Amino acid sequence: MSYFRKKPIDPNAHQNSVLKKELGAMDLILLGIGAIVGTGIFVITGTAAAETAGPALSLSFIMAGFACVLSALCFAEFASRMPISGGAYSYAYSTFGELIGWITGWLMICEYTLANASVASGWSGYVHGLLNGLGIHFPKALTASYNAENGTYIDILAVLVMFVVAYLVTQGAKKVLRLNNVMVVVKFAIIFLFIIVGVFYVKPANWTPFAPMGFSGITTGAAIVFFAFLGFDAVSMAAEEVKKPQRDLPIGIIGSLSIATVLYVVVTLILTGIVPFAELNVKDPVAYAMRFIGQNQVSGIISIGAIVTLITVLIAMIYGEARMIFAISRDGLLPKKLSKVNPKTQTPSNATFVVGAVAGILSGVVPLERLAQLTNIVTLMLFSIICIGVILLRRDMGQPSKDEFRVPLVPFLPILGAAVSIYLMLQLSATTWQIFILWLAIGLLVYAYYGYKHSHLNGKK
Ligand code: ALA
Repeated sequence: MSYFRKKPIDPNAHQNSVLKKELGAMDLILLGIGAIVGTGIFVITGTAAAETAGPALSLSFIMAGFACVLSALCFAEFASRMPISGGAYSYAYSTFGELIGWITGWLMICEYTLANASVASGWSGYVHGLLNGLGIHFPKALTASYNAENGTYIDILAVLVMFVVAYLVTQGAKKVLRLNNVMVVVKFAIIFLFIIVGVFYVKPANWTPFAPMGFSGITTGAAIVFFAFLGFDAVSMAAEEVKKPQRDLPIGIIGSLSIATVLYVVVTLILTGIVPFAELNVKDPVAYAMRFIGQNQVSGIISIGAIVTLITVLIAMIYGEARMIFAISRDGLLPKKLSKVNPKTQTPSNATFVVGAVAGILSGVVPLERLAQLTNIVTLMLFSIICIGVILLRRDMGQPSKDEFRVPLVPFLPILGAAVSIYLMLQLSATTWQIFILWLAIGLLVYAYYGYKHSHLNGKK
């Protein structure tokens, strides 16, 4: 069956890649943190605590983090055994065959585009918060996503930031990642500032009731804050540009994820310890908590820090997505123009601009909560594919060699990883499911009418 034709694994792919090999383990951990820590903790935590889990959102983070670690282990084995760009898409293409490979790629395009849009939208929330504090107000119609009843039509700042970041990313990986590394330091600094100042204002009474909406609140919360962990797979997508992929990719993925989990749990406990959880339904909860205790200066510093550092999330995500589209187009499943490498900067600039434009428009018109839930459902689906993929990988390529990363307890851990992901998907709303199914159907049509015919495996070059 040609729908299941598999892309052969080229053992020299890494060596032969046209992209520059210049990244090491530390670059990858920073790329990971740059992509992971962002709108999830700075924005979504507030609404999620207020509406779903209360202080027990810290447990939601552990649950979501657990699902991510299981998937991350599977990603790491793939990344170390197939160090080629394209991430999950390439892994699925070589293990499940073309159809599932394409669907995985399609879901990833969706994941990254929606995540970019969500982050741009969260960024704009912090900028408006800060500007309002300084007495600067935009015309209402331009301040938030489309909602005719409220008189808002487009979030113009979110659109603009997407375009600017897309331009920066076309100017070269190393230059941009260096900027990313500086901003990651700023991000840590403001989170530590929040922790150090906040810890003295925690009132344990605010933690009672700890789980006001019971276990179901915790699981719904987990399905929402799952968003906060996304981005670690951006690390595996940098594979072709890494000097020693076998060793450094797993360090990059698991390292960045572990650091993020610890930060999230601590920040959530302090946040809900300072502010009664029901009052956290705001667009800039971390800064809000500081205003709540009268620390206005600290609040201002945190807002500025969040504004600067959410840009790092955008950089890392656009970087990853453009390279993934580059890989899909290089295989013929998307138009060739998208894999054109700009000779001067050696980056896939067309792909980068397309991503910037689509995500920019989405961030302008769709509300953040909707964007985040959609991002989560597609990503959870993708994670379950990758978990099951590891079992097939072992069947096709045998056990990993001693230089390669090995998922422990196969097939038990991968099956558990897929089950946890599907369980979290089931916690999301019916509307989210409907849009998800529609998106899958569109993906299948694109494959039927374009990808299937133009695929290199169909003899097309
Ligand atoms: N994990 C990323 C964030 O929270 C997507 O912004």
